[in-house]
Amino acid sequence: MSLHSNVRRVTTHVLYAMKLKGEKITMLTAYDYSFARLVDQAGIDVILVGDSASNVMAGYETTLPITLENMIYHAASVVRGTNRALVVVDLPFGTYQGNSKEALVSAIRIMKETGAQAVKLEGGVEITESVERILSAGIPVMGHLGLTPQSIHKFGTYVVRATEQEEADKLKSDAEALSKAGCFALVLEKIPAKLAGEVSEAIIIPTIGIGAGADVNGQVLVLHDMLGITQEFSPRFLRRYHNLQMEIKGAVQNYIEDVRSKEFPNENEQY
Ligand code: KIV
Repeated sequence: MSLHSNVRRVTTHVLYAMKLKGEKITMLTAYDYSFARLVDQAGIDVILVGDSASNVMAGYETTLPITLENMIYHAASVVRGTNRALVVVDLPFGTYQGNSKEALVSAIRIMKETGAQAVKLEGGVEITESVERILSAGIPVMGHLGLTPQSIHKFGTYVVRATEQEEADKLKSDAEALSKAGCFALVLEKIPAKLAGEVSEAIIIPTIGIGAGADVNGQVLVLHDMLGITQEFSPRFLRRYHNLQMEIKGAVQNYIEDVRSKEFPNENEQY
């Protein structure tokens, strides 16, 4: 229960308990106050202020250009729209890979300037020192393995990761390392469902999948993709729950028509 609301906010402990009870965790992205408010009121468990804001909000091709200042702006807006969901914020590319001190400074800025409850970092064993240092300041950390979009130029493509044994073995040991380092949950992106199931069995922390099949402890999608606002992106794992782009364009076209035909505003819509 917070000072400003009588709704109890989801905590990292709640997510852990959900895994133990076999209850699935729900997570969606949000980047602004208005959408965060709707998603929170609908009852989502976790809102991720993803660095996918770089694509969805800013129109960049990759997640690399978004800055810490941009992420702080988005995250503070999201936090103002939520009462219940645990809000997790991506540390953007270039703000934690240098060294663990830089990672801690970036994470502290996010927590201080946004009011969010946790941060997310991409990477495996190579970031465990940063994870431990951020945790030592009392900041919960979510991990992210598999297709990690900040490494797109290393991968060269957005195809499914860890289909070969060597990469699958590395992913398993990275997952163990992140769990041991103290991450409270782990995103598994675009990897074979069987591997995701094995990882979820092997570690004690909850796994949250995107394109990782059903045998994970929760699911995440990018909000604008599942609402059908984005148009070009259609991977197999994406279920569209609405076709909002059609509805929005239709509403805007109706408005244009009404203004041009002088049908809007009518007598009741003026003073
Ligand atoms: O930035 C993002 O939206 C993400 C999700 C795809 C997990 O990291």
